[in-house]
Amino acid sequence: MQGNPGINVHLEVLRPKQTYPFPWPFFQFFDAFPEAAHLVAPELEPLSLTGEEDFDLVVLFYQVWFLAPALPVTAFLQHPLAPRLLKGKPVVTVIACRNMWLMAHEKMKGLLASTGARLIDNVVLTDASNVFATLITTPRWLLTGKQTGFLGLPRAGIAPKEILRARRFGLALQEALAADAEKQNAPLLAGLGAVEANPRLFVSEKAGTRSFYLWGKLLRAVGGPGQRGRKPLLFFYVIFLVALIVTVVPVSLMLQALIRPFLRKRLAEMKHDFELPSGSGNERMSRYAI
Ligand SMILES: Cc1cc2nc3c(=O)[nH]c(=O)nc-3n(C[C@H](O)[C@H](O)[C@H](O)COP(=O)(O)O)c2cc1C
Repeated sequence: MQGNPGINVHLEVLRPKQTYPFPWPFFQFFDAFPEAAHLVAPELEPLSLTGEEDFDLVVLFYQVWFLAPALPVTAFLQHPLAPRLLKGKPVVTVIACRNMWLMAHEKMKGLLASTGARLIDNVVLTDASNVFATLITTPRWLLTGKQTGFLGLPRAGIAPKEILRARRFGLALQEALAADAEKQNAPLLAGLGAVEANPRLFVSEKAGTRSFYLWGKLLRAVGGPGQRGRKPLLFFYVIFLVALIVTVVPVSLMLQALIRPFLRKRLAEMKHDFELPSGSGNERMSRYAI
């Protein structure tokens, strides 16, 4: 899109005043969960936008942090300029995460609705490796910076090929903009395999979100982000969380596998609903094949 002379792209990088490090030190990583879960965002450096801009289309990229939108993007949506920039505007969200994005997307829909934006598409790129493998490879990457495979486990992150193939979304958006299609209230990226929801992770996401919310409340009562007083409780919670992950996730997946024949219709409905507005159809893929 940036190379298209017919499109004027404004790229706004969100910069929290207090930067987040990479790789993440252990405590700082977990210390981000109470605020992420409660949508209590940090202050951003001043935006380069004034609020007077009149965009045709807004593409909002974000990561998932603890089953919620990453704090910098939450900060943007809670910024006083956000309603002025987004009210009535078509918004395409692009999520990059490990594989648990359902609850974050729900929260994002609420944040967008509070600004008056119109969500017309949602693209989701995830780590396609085994869910359990990513529970090891993603934290290893985030806490050490090491993304390569190890001990027979796959490389962490979204496959580079997948990232290249995401070009189809840019091509489709260019065509749509040229035809003023964004003015209608319909997805622009349908039929392009924009999203594939796995509703079997929903139970784990629900349990995780509840846990992050309740423990986040307790931690926030002890002190703000980075406060020393939070450390002992955080340490205890991490042990509890690991126990929760190694028990709840496999047990919920196992139970669901047992009762799946009875849940088939409900799971299909959930999959459909979570994949809105873009859907998982791929009938237009060949048009933008690379
Ligand atoms: C603080 C933090 C919390 C995260 N929590 C989740 C999560 O709940 N679900 C998920 O699928 N990915 C989670 N991730 C992984 C990120 O969404 C993302 O995949 C990872 O940071 C790599 O993205 P990047 O290549 O844009 O840096 C988390 C990452 C960070 C830094």
